[in-house]
Amino acid sequence: MTATPAAATAPPLLGVYARVGPLFTSGQGAELVAEDGARYLDFVAGIGVNALGYNHPVIRGAIERALATGLIHVSNLYRSEPGERLADELVGRSFADQAFFCNSGAEANEAAFKFARKWAQKPGIVAFSGGFHGRLFASLAATDRPEYRRPFEPLVPGIDIVPLGDRAATERAVTAERTGAVIIEPVQGEGGVHPVDAEWLAWLRQLCDGCRAALIFDEVQCGLGRTGTFFAYEQSGVVPDMVTLAKPLAGGLPMGAVLLKDAIGSALAPGDHATTFGGGPLVASVALEVVRAIGAPEFLASVRRAGEWLGGRLASLRSRRVRSVRGRGLMWGIELAEPAAPFVALARERGLLVATAGPKVLRLLPPLVVTQDELERGVAILEGALA
Ligand SMILES: Cc1ncc(COP(=O)(O)O)c(C=O)c1O
Repeated sequence: MTATPAAATAPPLLGVYARVGPLFTSGQGAELVAEDGARYLDFVAGIGVNALGYNHPVIRGAIERALATGLIHVSNLYRSEPGERLADELVGRSFADQAFFCNSGAEANEAAFKFARKWAQKPGIVAFSGGFHGRLFASLAATDRPEYRRPFEPLVPGIDIVPLGDRAATERAVTAERTGAVIIEPVQGEGGVHPVDAEWLAWLRQLCDGCRAALIFDEVQCGLGRTGTFFAYEQSGVVPDMVTLAKPLAGGLPMGAVLLKDAIGSALAPGDHATTFGGGPLVASVALEVVRAIGAPEFLASVRRAGEWLGGRLASLRSRRVRSVRGRGLMWGIELAEPAAPFVALARERGLLVATAGPKVLRLLPPLVVTQDELERGVAILEGALA
């Protein structure tokens, strides 16, 4: 029997993704290679997952060494070394005292909500306009995308979304009696790439302290080196009570994490939360190497250098379609005067993958290992597409 050409029939996949473009068969560095051999510069990087690009020796090596132990999974009923070492590594790099591992960004936020409710003994959770925290029932309730929410209501009760930057509305929503947690992305990703003011984060910190509410920073997209520091919050000087991570954590294997203070962790007991796969030895081994690679000072310095160049170049894009550019490190949004989707398609036809972030924003999340030459080529393609 001969193999069926990949595109000949529609695959029996649930239609929740509007998949477009070529069938990708391999990747190297910042490039994806399609079935027909065409190469694409990938400035989406799995929506921020492939921070070390494709086929990185650190990730390959970690997977090979982990497989050699024979342990892909060991139940959380027992101890295994990689998860313990990863927890040490992440805690050592952060404000936190403890780590909880799960399998995705939404799961990390759902876990953080549960931890906050158990610790604070108050159910209220406050999130902000433009925020995105996932598509499970509680994370969706904290996500400001009516079109994603409406078909699935009722969502989890007790979660309010207030206008970002509106102090009066936030003070009305965050109360000592009701609020257990406040969640915010230090740089909003899906909502259009909006870096949140450090003063606003500092003000939220004070408000949470005054109300005994946990301040959760969702760094699923903006964390782990993406903005040029290991955690995005480092640039604000504001320290949360919990931070959630996922996307690049395990080099493309599914993994999420919540890092938290002892004060909150000590409210949790065996059985309060769990997930079968969370922090298994294979994913944790890979994550340990990814965290060490990204956390190396010279690596982060290279992200900042690349980001400074990219931000400067985007700010001088020769296109009347561009309204503004925003970003930090290697996370950039280009606000257009018109819908962004046609330019995603046009760039792809010219060999560059970019994403949208809302209707009029083009989003660039190149791999953190992107070279200067690749950045220059990518921006040139984008500039041509926006001409
Ligand atoms: C800031 C943020 N939080 C949470 C999520 C949800 O992560 P996941 O898709 O892994 O559930 C995302 C995904 O894009 C995100 O950008």
